[in-house]
Amino acid sequence: MAKIYITDTILRDAHQSQAATRMRLSDMLPACELLDSIGYWSLECWGGATFDACMRFLNEDPWERLRQLRKHMPNTKLQMLLRGQNLLGYKHYADDVVEAFCAKSIENGIDVVRVFDALNDTRNIECAVKAVKKYGGWCEPAISYTVSPVHNEEYFVKLAKEMEQMGADSICIKDMANLLLPFDAYNLVKKLKQSVKVPIHLHTHNTTGTGDMVYLMAAQAGVDIIDTALSPMANGTSQPATESMVATFKGTEFDTGLDMDKLLQGATHFRKVADRLKAEGSLDPKVLNTDVKTLVYQVPGGMLSNLISQLKQANAEDKYYDVLAEVPRVRKDFGYPPLVTPTSQIVGSQAVLNVLSGERYKMVSKESKALLRGEYGRLPGQVNEEVRRKAIGSDTVITCRPADLIKPEMPKYREETKGVATCEEDVLSYALFPQVASAFFAKRAEKAAEADPNAVRELYVEDMGN
Ligand code: CO
Repeated sequence: MAKIYITDTILRDAHQSQAATRMRLSDMLPACELLDSIGYWSLECWGGATFDACMRFLNEDPWERLRQLRKHMPNTKLQMLLRGQNLLGYKHYADDVVEAFCAKSIENGIDVVRVFDALNDTRNIECAVKAVKKYGGWCEPAISYTVSPVHNEEYFVKLAKEMEQMGADSICIKDMANLLLPFDAYNLVKKLKQSVKVPIHLHTHNTTGTGDMVYLMAAQAGVDIIDTALSPMANGTSQPATESMVATFKGTEFDTGLDMDKLLQGATHFRKVADRLKAEGSLDPKVLNTDVKTLVYQVPGGMLSNLISQLKQANAEDKYYDVLAEVPRVRKDFGYPPLVTPTSQIVGSQAVLNVLSGERYKMVSKESKALLRGEYGRLPGQVNEEVRRKAIGSDTVITCRPADLIKPEMPKYREETKGVATCEEDVLSYALFPQVASAFFAKRAEKAAEADPNAVRELYVEDMGN
């Protein structure tokens, strides 16, 4: 039993889970000096959906955001979330892209890389784990926690042992939907502490209202690090509040040692940011409620707000609860994948299609087909073969590591971005989100040309000469 270390997620998961990832660098910078002085174990500030959101919605270069955060927070470990072989995108990339991305993330300022695979197929995190280690990062593989007939303590312990053998510096239990209940958390952490030597880092949300209790029980079982968020964007679909946990442990053997005054100052700043996000409509009050239905539907926080917006677009908001009820049925048909990006989107969208089209699997998304063909890796449980046949006909189902079928891709991406990409980071942005990155590059060039009219002329002359 010892001090509990804290990772604050205010700069990543908190706003991803509550405000559609719309926090800007300009919202963060004024608080950086303070955040850096608090003494967190780490600050989660990059990866996940932030990369895409930066370019797609905020017209920000994600790499520049990272460099700025690094510059303004030199003393705290910066942490990112990486989806294994999917990196920050939604498909499998070749190993050379994975290696280049890990190298550049670390080079631009990341210290801790949390790597997970939605299916807990360790073949899908192997390459990223190796690359993070190779470039000097702290590698934290994560167990995607879920509840199903095939997911039990034994399963998770086996997974953790495998991760330790792969070279994990710490192991995360990633409970993206707050499905891990307090007593189960106690037992699981206890088991893991007995089974592996590396620190155990617990990540949960407060979607179902049990997050604080989960942390309290996990602390008693010996958890080393927990993820919390400063109160203005804590709770509900986000993490339990940092201040509440710090106060809870104060004066006990678990005392975090963090200064409450500083946390309150940080909260004052992010209260203003949260108010602005609310005013612009990015923060939907629905995600702040405790939703016990999540315990039944097993839908993670980010997915809830996605489903709401998908249904809004289809003018079918009244089908919200029908879709939520369809989610576990689709999940069972698909062999119980944990619901986390990208499987949460795949299962969620398929549930929407099943409900809106009036007949289950009448329409099957491209991604559902890929999942059923084994293109995302090994599904944890038995797939409903009838559904699989309806979806993919007689297509072959692959059983190898999906990335083994992908040839090196960096040369192709470099070629495609010639004259547009200004650095290897740009090439990687393009590799992950070709359309979004191209639009972003165009806007960036436009802005640069506005700032310097001569630059346009030079570029023009050069073009003519070629
Ligand atoms: Co999360």
